[in-house]
Amino acid sequence: MSRSVLDLAATLGPVTLRSPIVAASGTVGSVVDFAGVGDFTVYGAAVAKSVSSAPWPGRDKPRLSSSGEGMLNAIGIQNPGIEEWARQIGPRIGDVPVPVWGSAVGHDATGFAEVATGLERAGVAAVEVNLSCPNLDDGHLFALDAKATAEVVAAVRSATSLPIGAKLSPNAIDIVEIAAAAQQAGADWVVLTNTVWGAGFDVTTRRPKLRTVVGGYSGAPVKAIAMRCVWEVAQGVPDLPILGCGGVRSGEDVVEYLLAGASAVAIGTAHFAEPRIGRRVIKQLEKYMTRNGITAIEELVGAAEPW
Ligand SMILES: Cc1cc2nc3c(=O)[nH]c(=O)nc-3n(C[C@H](O)[C@H](O)[C@H](O)COP(=O)(O)O)c2cc1C
Repeated sequence: MSRSVLDLAATLGPVTLRSPIVAASGTVGSVVDFAGVGDFTVYGAAVAKSVSSAPWPGRDKPRLSSSGEGMLNAIGIQNPGIEEWARQIGPRIGDVPVPVWGSAVGHDATGFAEVATGLERAGVAAVEVNLSCPNLDDGHLFALDAKATAEVVAAVRSATSLPIGAKLSPNAIDIVEIAAAAQQAGADWVVLTNTVWGAGFDVTTRRPKLRTVVGGYSGAPVKAIAMRCVWEVAQGVPDLPILGCGGVRSGEDVVEYLLAGASAVAIGTAHFAEPRIGRRVIKQLEKYMTRNGITAIEELVGAAEPW
């Protein structure tokens, strides 16, 4: 990446990333398991699959399906629980060529806090608070409610000294209110966004594409939805750093998120079709910067022109 004089560094609150792209949670496994498949040298950070306090078995199959250009999933955060996760993954975190962030999920604030403590002990560089998983057993989604969001973020804030990002939902009625609550409770940035509630049906079997019927929709079609969230929060809470996430497939998608007000951008679903997408995205980003006389990523953040 040091081939050119372009400065690709991105600032996300207290964190400096060497590159503005981040690998999104749930799309690169535990990060350490994906290291041989992807190319983490071009990423600023990579986020491991969300983990809970006790083991979660995940949902029944089918739990992954295509829908148009996007993907439906209802994995249900299958994970071995933080203790086992730390035992398996912790010792290998130092082996991957990228800062590894943990992702905490839970049924209540105490559960989230326990995971955050465990993630810090395991050696992650930051903690994402997944307030927005769309397919938990009890259908609960913290990120739809400002009070519940604040309670969980505050508990995580007291449990760890690591930087924390609050991952929010595009399904929230008022994303600005939720983002402001997360910031007041101690989040260093918000991740905008997780998947959009979606559903689909197989026209031959007439069955739902997912066992749970409703699940999380991701990929190219959600870009405009997440982008709208980024724009609204950038306008409504201007001092809150944003990690944009949703439907990114190219360097131009990254630029678009930066213009809308994101400080860095996560790539998710696109990893399934193209595990080494990061390298292509960075090349395209560099090309855009060179063509447009941009020397540093910071110049693009919130740089959308008004009508
Ligand atoms: C199969 C799958 C599993 C996911 N698992 C998680 C997860 O464990 N934790 C989380 O915060 N987000 C999870 N996500 C959401 C992604 O991190 C991302 O926020 C979302 O897919 C939107 O970005 P994309 O359109 O680039 O995929 C998952 C997404 C997919 C497709």
